[in-house]
Amino acid sequence: MTTNKRNTPVRGLEGVVAADTALTYVDGENGKLYHRGYELDQLAGKICYEEMVHLLWYGELPDQSQLDDFRAELVAEMRLPEQVFDLLRLAPPNANPMVVLRTAVSALGMFDPDGGKNTEAANQRKARRILAQVATIVASLHRIHEKPALSADARMGFAENYLYMFNGKPPTELERKVLDTTLVLHADHGLAASTFAARATVSTLAGMHSALTSALASLKGPLHGGANREVMEMLEQISAPDRVQSYIEGMLSNGKRIMGFGHRVYKTEDPRSRHLRRFSEKLSHGAGTADLYEMSHRIEELVLEHKGIRPNVDFYSATVQRALGIPKEFYTCIFASARTAGWMAHIMEQFRDNRLIRPRSNYTGGFDRTYTPVETR
Ligand SMILES: CC(C)(COP(=O)(O)OP(=O)(O)OC[C@H]1O[C@@H](n2cnc3c(N)ncnc32)[C@H](O)[C@@H]1OP(=O)(O)O)[C@@H](O)C(=O)NCCC(=O)NCCS
Repeated sequence: MTTNKRNTPVRGLEGVVAADTALTYVDGENGKLYHRGYELDQLAGKICYEEMVHLLWYGELPDQSQLDDFRAELVAEMRLPEQVFDLLRLAPPNANPMVVLRTAVSALGMFDPDGGKNTEAANQRKARRILAQVATIVASLHRIHEKPALSADARMGFAENYLYMFNGKPPTELERKVLDTTLVLHADHGLAASTFAARATVSTLAGMHSALTSALASLKGPLHGGANREVMEMLEQISAPDRVQSYIEGMLSNGKRIMGFGHRVYKTEDPRSRHLRRFSEKLSHGAGTADLYEMSHRIEELVLEHKGIRPNVDFYSATVQRALGIPKEFYTCIFASARTAGWMAHIMEQFRDNRLIRPRSNYTGGFDRTYTPVETR
C-alpha cells in the first residue's frame, strides 16, 4: 500500500538556498547589497548602467575603452524586427504594458539569429541583443502610435537613448543620471522570485527567451515588481498629505498591506531605497511632485511606527519615475528592463553549471480510491 512520506514544506521557500551564485549577495541583517564583491554604495551614483551590466556579466568594471566598445555594441542592438513592432501596434491600447512586454519578448525568440543555440558564445550575443531589445520594446510601446518613430542614436549612451526613445526628446543631464542610477539599483538582487523562475526554466535547457519570458511573468505580480505601480495608485488615491495618516492607519487596522514596504530578506533598511529616496526628494522640487514626496515620507514614518517595516526598492521608485515623465503603467517595465541584466547573468551562470531544478512537494491528498465508470458516478 502506498503511504505518504511526510515532508514539511518550507512555505515560500523562505531561507532555502537553491543555487550558487557569484553575482550578488543580499545581506538582509545588515541592509547591505554586494555585486561581484562591491557594496552597492561604492557603485550607486558613480557608475552608469553599462558598467553595471559589464560587472555582472564579465565580473569586472570595464576600463574606458571596454566601456566605449560595450556601450556601442548595446546601442547598436537597440532595434527590433519589424514583426515585433507590428505586434506592439496590435496590442489593445489599454493592455498592461508588462503583458505586452512579456508577449513581445517571447515573440523575439522566433526572430533571434542565434535561435535555439545555447553555447556560451551564442548566449553572450543573445544577452546583449535581448538587453537592448527589452529597452527598445518598452520605449517604443510608449510611443507606438506617435510619429516619427525614433531609433537609438549612436552618440548617446544606454540610459540617454532609453529616455530619448521613451519620451520623444533627449533628457536633461539630471534625468539621464537619475535613470542611469535607477537602472543600476534594479540590476540584480539575488534569487528573487523572477530570477528563480528564470533559472528553473533554463535548468531544463529551454533557451534564454523562454527563461526571460518566465521571469517577466513572475515580476509582473504586485508582491514583486508590480508593487511600484500600486504605490503610485495608492498615492493618487490618498491625494493630499493631510489624508495620509487616516488612510494608512485604516489600511493597517484592516490587516491590509502597504505596497512598497517589507521584504523577504531585508530585516532592516533596503539600501536601494535610500538612494531612491534621495532622488525622489531632489526631483520633487523641479517636477511638481513635492506633494507626492511629502506623502511618501509621511507614509514611511507611519508604517515604521505601526509595523516596524521599511520601504523596499519599489516605494520611492514610483515617485522617481513619475518625475522622469514615465506613466505608472510603465513602472514595472522599467524595473524589468533594468533587471534583464541580472536575469541574463543568472541564466548564463545556470547554463555553465546546470542541473535540472526539480524539487518535491508534500502530497496532502489520499490513496486507495476505487475507480467507478462515468455512468455510475
Ligand atoms: C515583499 C513581501 C511579499 C514579503 O513577504 P513575506 O516575506 O512573505 O512576509 P510575510 O507576508 O510573512 O509578512 C510578515 C509580517 O509582516 C507584515 N507585512 C509584510 N509586508 C507588509 C506590508 N507591505 N504592509 C503591511 N504589513 C506587511 C505581514 O502582514 C506579516 O505580519 P504578521 O506577522 O503580523 O502577520 C511583503 O512584505 C509584501 O507583501 N510587501 C508588499 C508588496 C511589495 O512591496 N512587494 C515588493 C517587494 S520588493
